[in-house]
Amino acid sequence: MHILSSTSKDIRLGRRGPQQDYVLPRLLPGWYWLLIFDADGSPLDPPALALIWLPTGRIADGTDIHLFLTNLHKNSPVYSCPLKMADPQDNHNYANPEELALLKAQTGIHNDDELKAHISAVQKKAATVANYPCIQRFGFIKIKINKFPSAYNHVLELARKDPSALLLDIGCCFGNDLRKIALDGFPAQNMIASDLRQDFWNLGHDLFRSTPSTFPAAFLPGDALDDAFLALHPLLDAPLSTPAPDPHTLTSLTPLRARLSAIHSASVFHLFSEADQLRLARKLAGLLVPRAGSMIWGCHGAQAEKGYVEGVPGRKMFCHSPESWRALWDGEVFPKGSVKVATHMVNAGRILNERTDFWMMFWSVERL
Ligand SMILES: C[S@@+](CC[C@H](N)C(=O)[O-])C[C@H]1O[C@@H](n2cnc3c(N)ncnc32)[C@H](O)[C@@H]1O
Repeated sequence: MHILSSTSKDIRLGRRGPQQDYVLPRLLPGWYWLLIFDADGSPLDPPALALIWLPTGRIADGTDIHLFLTNLHKNSPVYSCPLKMADPQDNHNYANPEELALLKAQTGIHNDDELKAHISAVQKKAATVANYPCIQRFGFIKIKINKFPSAYNHVLELARKDPSALLLDIGCCFGNDLRKIALDGFPAQNMIASDLRQDFWNLGHDLFRSTPSTFPAAFLPGDALDDAFLALHPLLDAPLSTPAPDPHTLTSLTPLRARLSAIHSASVFHLFSEADQLRLARKLAGLLVPRAGSMIWGCHGAQAEKGYVEGVPGRKMFCHSPESWRALWDGEVFPKGSVKVATHMVNAGRILNERTDFWMMFWSVERL
């Protein structure tokens, strides 16, 4: 194990192997115990402890830390267990000022310590639903929806011009991005939030201290790749003349075919294989109203050259390149020349493993 980075506030540890890295709060120099948990999150029986020495002075990135494992159960394979701190909180990625402002405005909690305790309590509950890296890294409070400003402003303009315009956030998790765009003017009652996990959406209400009446977006739980939830239909040439169904009365996304003015997707496409990324793109395209100006936009992991890269240790992730992503939308999903695709790459650093730069591609697809 060695130090990946250290700031005046915390020390980030990492080790090669099937585990995430950790942030220790910067403590007084000395010896500390780490409690080791099993792969499923349960404590080992009898418990296993690691003794860790935090030295004095500034600790340079890359410094080795000497980790001694003391396991009371003689046959336990200590080194094959993921390590976790007893309180697995990753402060490294905690809310920035924009995110804190949104959380304060929504929750009414203005004291920083109180707000952090509230967020941490929800984070703990979320980790029992699915302990994704994005939960450990406070991904559920990150605002991404406005990070491609031309697309964001375009969608807000769509809502200003058409008060009945519908917006879908696919893979919405807690609904943090939807809360941001609601604050900036997109009416919440015209929003559809959808995710595999209902529990995340419910935790979003806990986190933002909202209810289905104070934040009236429709939530549709389901697997976007499942045809029973979102069917793949050919694109229509013209908008439908009948009124759109009320999303609050639906149980699947299929009836919204050709009804949505805008669709947002953050950190979702990179969860899937190349074939499934194309299938999801086709399904979403079918939901978009066939009218100039309607838009799909979002962000996810990408690379300069398309292909598989290492994601979280031990797992491969398929990444499009900006070029292949543009070709997918303009030519495969939509007829060539019928959409304008924009992309922008940002290097987020080695957040998933120690070897691979994670590039976040922000993108938009606008019907012409
Ligand atoms: C990495 S999180 C991103 C959450 C949110 N969009 C954000 O950026 O903060 C991916 C989300 O996609 C959801 N998800 C994964 N597979 C899905 C699927 N097949 N259909 C719908 N949602 C899915 C997960 O439950 C999770 O909430």
